[in-house]
Amino acid sequence: MTWHIAMQELSKVKVTANGENDFVTVKGNFDKFQCIGVGTDAAVFRFVYAPHYAFKVFRMDKLAKIEIEKEVYLKLGHSGYFPVCYGSGLNFLVISFEEGITLYDCLLKGIHIPKQAIQDVENARNYAFNRGLNPRNIHLKNILLHES
Ligand SMILES: Nc1ncnc2c1ncn2[C@@H]1O[C@H](COP(=O)(O)OP(=O)(O)O)[C@@H](O)[C@H]1O
Ligand SMILES: [Mg+2]
Repeated sequence: MTWHIAMQELSKVKVTANGENDFVTVKGNFDKFQCIGVGTDAAVFRFVYAPHYAFKVFRMDKLAKIEIEKEVYLKLGHSGYFPVCYGSGLNFLVISFEEGITLYDCLLKGIHIPKQAIQDVENARNYAFNRGLNPRNIHLKNILLHES
């Protein structure tokens, strides 16, 4: 993958904070990255030339979370329940792009959530506990439903 092109393009992406618990805003004159989701700490993008990756770009005052999240991914390992982390830059994490729609959007759009998906969330939670983690941020926008 052409990392230097990705890095050059990514430097055009501006993620700015609103309130402490408000969604970030995305600005900038970029066209090789597509925003696939926003959160309160970061916005997540896909690079057109490397669609298997997701680039999570953090707001300036939350950069400390990059190391914390990296540590969490290290503990999680390759489970199938969580994305894999490939590395990081000054203001971003590179993780695996995961296909799917958030459970929140399922509710908005009237998409059926199978019972198995909820069972999988429970299994993923147990998996994280067994890895010495204490998952606390389990909510509908942090869970992706994907068909497989
Ligand atoms: N690996 C991923 N693959 C696909 N979409 C993702 C991925 N990570 C995050 N997203 C999307 O981006 C949104 C924000 O990411 P998230 O990590 O939850 O940010 P925050 O930590 O700020 O809440 C998610 O709700 C989801 O829609
Ligand atoms: Mg989130």
